[in-house]
Amino acid sequence: MANPTDTAAARSSGTAGPSKPVFKPILDIKKDFPVLNREFGGLPLHYLDSAATTQKPLAVIEAMDTFYRESYGTVRRGVYRLSEKATAGFEGTRKKVAALINAASEKEIIYTSGTTQSINLVAYSYGRKFLKAGDEIILSQIEHHANIVPWQIVAEMTGAVIRTIPVDDTGTLILEEYKKLLGEKTRIVAVNHISNALGTINPVKEIIRLAHLAGPGGKGAVVLVDGAQSISHMTVDVRDLDADFYAFSGHKMFGPTGIGILYGKFAILDSMPPYQGGGDMIMKVTFAKTTYQAPPHRFEAGTPAIVEVLGLGAAIDYLKQVGLDKIAAHEAGLLEYGTAVLRDVPGLRLIGTAAEKGSILSFTLEGVHPHDIGTLLDEDGIAIRAGHHCAQPTMDRFGVPATARASMGPYNDASDLDALAKGLKRIGEMFR
Ligand code: ALA
Repeated sequence: MANPTDTAAARSSGTAGPSKPVFKPILDIKKDFPVLNREFGGLPLHYLDSAATTQKPLAVIEAMDTFYRESYGTVRRGVYRLSEKATAGFEGTRKKVAALINAASEKEIIYTSGTTQSINLVAYSYGRKFLKAGDEIILSQIEHHANIVPWQIVAEMTGAVIRTIPVDDTGTLILEEYKKLLGEKTRIVAVNHISNALGTINPVKEIIRLAHLAGPGGKGAVVLVDGAQSISHMTVDVRDLDADFYAFSGHKMFGPTGIGILYGKFAILDSMPPYQGGGDMIMKVTFAKTTYQAPPHRFEAGTPAIVEVLGLGAAIDYLKQVGLDKIAAHEAGLLEYGTAVLRDVPGLRLIGTAAEKGSILSFTLEGVHPHDIGTLLDEDGIAIRAGHHCAQPTMDRFGVPATARASMGPYNDASDLDALAKGLKRIGEMFR
């Protein structure tokens, strides 16, 4: 999504005086989301926190409810019909996920509890097996803590070293600096597809291409992409990207919490030891020796999140029905409109103005702490996130302890952003 900030700003600074920006909606799907049709304290809800978690359409809520009411049973363990049916749905979702991201096979799709666990799995399994002292892990300066801390822990265990790709003042990764970091010692590159704190869309295809030319003997470093903020906002094709790992969460793509995905190229997954031990991930257990299942089941110890997996399947059906292309186009319009109306708020500083951005608007308001912004906007029925967004190094880069962040989804419309701008003007006046 190109960031149309400049055109929007140009329009509103013309000599004829600011003209009202226009938002042309492509989707009208608020009605599918029960929570978005409720009132809070007599006010409509303006939900602008989709980067934290998305709301759920009725189709997902009903799929999970129906399963609990009518056909709940365990998976991959029972020989009775209830369990066989549940297993078919459970494994069927794996195929849906594979198709959504164009994986070569559903064997490349591992169920986890969320993006965080997906990254931890790679760090602990791949990292502990393949990293040795002096090896380098490259992260970007604008990662979520979930894509920093697991690598720090594994670096401490192995003696590997973390290097970071800096960003410029717009929040764009400086690729020339990345190229300088790559070398013989590079073993792992882990970057987000879209920054949760700034909205920057990173050029992951190019990042991956370059990483695959580096590493020991130029045989390639592996790349993990944190797709938590991209998966429900744009079409993701892991084979076109040539990603080695791609991680995301169900709850950020209209599905339930407690379910996430780790995609990995099969040959790489097959080279990795288990991350956790338990039931269902083994071939044979004796006290002398245990052998393990092939991927993906090698990485799925214990009874999984059965109902959540089925909910994720319903969420993917919903995403496909709405259409990711339409979602991307709708959100590009929201970003343009939101950028324009926020630029009209006195004292507002947008943090993150990259040319390529997802539908995330991070900002500060002169003289007002972001937490006060969040609390006061709530009085107007507006839900945003305030804080460091689990991205403290990003905040440090921009010299702020925290920002307020409005993040959009396909169910948002101009009324949500108008309410935000109006609320911010009211707050600005209160503090002046
Ligand atoms: N990563 C989520 C966010 O940015 C929780 O809000």
